[in-house]
Amino acid sequence: MDKFLTGRYAIVTGATRGIGRAIAETLAASGAAVAICSRKQEEAESAAKEIAASTGAKVVGAAADVSNEKDVQRLFEFVDRELGGLDILVNNAGIGAWAPVAELTIDDWRRVMGTNLDGVFYCCHEALPRFRRRGSGFVINISSLAGKNPMAGGSAYNASKFGLNGFSEAMMMDHRYDNVKVCYIMPGSVSTDFNIRRAGVSDWKIAPEDIAEIVLTVLRMPERTLISRVEVRPSKPKK
Ligand SMILES: NC(=O)c1ccc[n+]([C@@H]2O[C@H](COP(=O)([O-])OP(=O)(O)OC[C@H]3O[C@@H](n4cnc5c(N)ncnc54)[C@H](OP(=O)(O)O)[C@@H]3O)[C@@H](O)[C@H]2O)c1
Repeated sequence: MDKFLTGRYAIVTGATRGIGRAIAETLAASGAAVAICSRKQEEAESAAKEIAASTGAKVVGAAADVSNEKDVQRLFEFVDRELGGLDILVNNAGIGAWAPVAELTIDDWRRVMGTNLDGVFYCCHEALPRFRRRGSGFVINISSLAGKNPMAGGSAYNASKFGLNGFSEAMMMDHRYDNVKVCYIMPGSVSTDFNIRRAGVSDWKIAPEDIAEIVLTVLRMPERTLISRVEVRPSKPKK
């Protein structure tokens, strides 16, 4: 149990597996009540049940595609009903598409920007009035080192994560005096389905639990101090 997190309410988007799941588990184990989403209702519900069983916390799950603004509105209404408040929003849901620009389809471009960038805006837009009612709030955006390091074949992903970094910093400056803290985390390779699909299995990668630990550290900082940006990379990447 944690002094800051006990009695807090959190949403983690894209939390049925990978980094989001580890963050949801860690927040729940630290005393927060947590709502999770993914695009699949059954998986969101069963992941929520599993996290609740392993942590003893209140954890609820619902289907929501963050790239769809109506889904996002419904998700936040669900959280109002099920949790009754909101203190922490972790924008984690994210996807990639890998192809040179000439071969990248318009649908892939839209899917990546819709999930990684529009989705974050929709969720923040819903969260801010709820934070105002609580008197404070915290947004943690899961970006990527691809938000500062361009790579061939990564135009859509790079554009979405570069954009997310700019969005996060501007939002931090917009709302810091409303007691809303905004932080973005830029991981390198993390051992999840997302990364394994693209780059294969290996043991040198960051574990999802390590990103969750960083989230906890960011949240636990004293009121006067904000960690606004974190870069995190495997300590010994493959040569
Ligand atoms: N893994 C890495 O190496 C790495 C490195 C840097 C940054 N990141 C970032 O970390 C975040 C999580 O990545 P991950 O590696 O944990 O990915 P992952 O293992 O593929 O998990 C992604 C999660 O997001 C959900 N999701 C995907 N699209 C969604 C949408 N439109 N609406 C709601 N939920 C959605 C997925 O469930 P459904 O598919 O069922 O919807 C799943 O629960 C992403 O933002 C990614 O860009 C990852």
